[in-house]
Amino acid sequence: MCGIVGVLGHNQVAPILVEALRRLEYRGYDSAGIATVNKGALERRRAVGKLVNLSDLLVHNPLAGHAGIGHTRWATHGAATEHNAHPHACGPVTVVHNGIIENFRALREKLAPHGLSASTDTDTETVAMLCAYHLAQGLDPEAAVKATVAELDGAFALLFLFEGQEDLMIAARKGSPLAIGHGDGEMYVGSDAIALAPMTDQITYLEEGDIAFVTRAGAKIIDVNGQLANRAKQKIETQATVIDKAGHKHFMTKEIYEQPVVMSEALSRYAPNGAPAFPEALDFSRFDRIVMVACGTGYYSCLTAKYWFEQIARIPCEVDVASEFRYREPPIAPRTLAIFVSQSGETADTLAALRYAQGKADMIVSLVNVGTSSIARESDLALAILAGIEVSVASTKAYTNQLTLLALMALACGQQKGVVSDEQVATYVSELRGVPDLMRQALKLDAQIADMANALAPAQSVLFLGRGAMFATALEAALKMKELSYIHAEAYASGELKHGPIALIDPTLPVVVFAPFDRLFDKTVSNMQEVMARHGNVTLITDAKGLSEASAGTQNRLELPITGDLSGPIVYALPAQLLAYHTAMAKGTDIDQPRNLAKSVTVE
Ligand code: G6P
Repeated sequence: MCGIVGVLGHNQVAPILVEALRRLEYRGYDSAGIATVNKGALERRRAVGKLVNLSDLLVHNPLAGHAGIGHTRWATHGAATEHNAHPHACGPVTVVHNGIIENFRALREKLAPHGLSASTDTDTETVAMLCAYHLAQGLDPEAAVKATVAELDGAFALLFLFEGQEDLMIAARKGSPLAIGHGDGEMYVGSDAIALAPMTDQITYLEEGDIAFVTRAGAKIIDVNGQLANRAKQKIETQATVIDKAGHKHFMTKEIYEQPVVMSEALSRYAPNGAPAFPEALDFSRFDRIVMVACGTGYYSCLTAKYWFEQIARIPCEVDVASEFRYREPPIAPRTLAIFVSQSGETADTLAALRYAQGKADMIVSLVNVGTSSIARESDLALAILAGIEVSVASTKAYTNQLTLLALMALACGQQKGVVSDEQVATYVSELRGVPDLMRQALKLDAQIADMANALAPAQSVLFLGRGAMFATALEAALKMKELSYIHAEAYASGELKHGPIALIDPTLPVVVFAPFDRLFDKTVSNMQEVMARHGNVTLITDAKGLSEASAGTQNRLELPITGDLSGPIVYALPAQLLAYHTAMAKGTDIDQPRNLAKSVTVE
């Protein structure tokens, strides 16, 4: 989602801003722009589409200045046009913004009688107008921003730059993160530390409600009560900010191939001695019920874990997407553990759902990949999934590491509640310890999966089927297929096929069946037979035993290693990811940054 950068430098800042924006590309965007203040005057350059369009524009029409702000926009209010691209300006102020200003219409009405009218479709322009209004009332930039921010409803990260002020940027955080970077006589602002990594590893994260007045000498920060705040400066590990494809064509394949390693890291942290090891505060004997909430891929990891928590730990478990949960206003019974799963830790709906659960659930635990994120900070306990930075918009290694932690949590829960013996736990953990090797075996099927994908690429639609936890795998496979290849894809619990979707079956609809040879195998195969009896085109993803039983009549087959209840959904995720990846390759779509998608969805 929208990326923000700002630099008070010694040299020309335009190239530095563009480079910093490049490091934020992974968030997903559809236009970009920068503004500088040069010899006192504000100037902007903006362009639709990829950053290369902005750099090309700057070659022909350069922007001078030692102070500047920049932005990558993911459109919410108004189409992705140059006109609607940030920075937005009004008189002596220009601003970039991530989030949504919910009361922008009311503010426009308030400002209209003062001769200030909007010239774009955006909510953000209203912030510039409001700030210009306060400046016109005689306030200095510091007071004008304070007055402006006080009038804004919604969630935002804002960065302001002013005419005549070559040593000042003002940043404000409410709902969307911002990081201040400290250089040698230079200062920076960024949506995250990744954007600032080549310039500095000294970072101060703003807290909710903070406003930072940044000059080359440093940053003065005031908190939500207007009091001077002392926010710690942290040294960021360079490893955490490395963005590199490591020889892969796309970040997505690099991240798919990293899964055996990052899963091993998660196992070493959370099951170092053959048993789950979580902080003592996570005492499952306190809970009678679990509620899990997430969005997108995280939701499917929760859906998978529901099977584990219920079947293995025998604890009732409810799962919902955050955007529904937060407005459904579900009653939360006493002795409920609420689990929130988010790669970025900044997803607006998940954060709002977490805030709804605060004070209602007995404990709030989050699974995040970004330890400094809002969701991590607002949880009673935040567990790092240890997947390492994930750049590809479509989540892969974060998903399998979420599954790893959730599987271990289900075991810890069953153990602490006395329904799973220590021996059973040890067996399950050793099954999980074997998964990185099984993943490596699955990755060896890459070329075969590419062939399957080439055959699938012309399809209008794809149907994925699975039973039990493999239903969640099918859902995640369909999501990946949609995100990456733009082919319509659906997933059904295979037993549900006959209640409607079977009407779709004809030879043009590829049907992909996830069916490890487990206790549900025969049932799934019966549903697969129903598809083949109607001339359906079936790809069967199973193991050697499954193939020997049921390969007859299928058009494509993929043999995965033998898996168990916990390892199955993790291992089967890999062919699902690779199938979507290679289908997208065959179709020539933008794999790491699919159209219309954003990595970190900080708006509702
Ligand atoms: C976006 C991304 C998805 C992701 C979802 C939830 O929609 O495109 O890949 O699964 O957000 O993100 P989170 O960071 O909360 O896991």
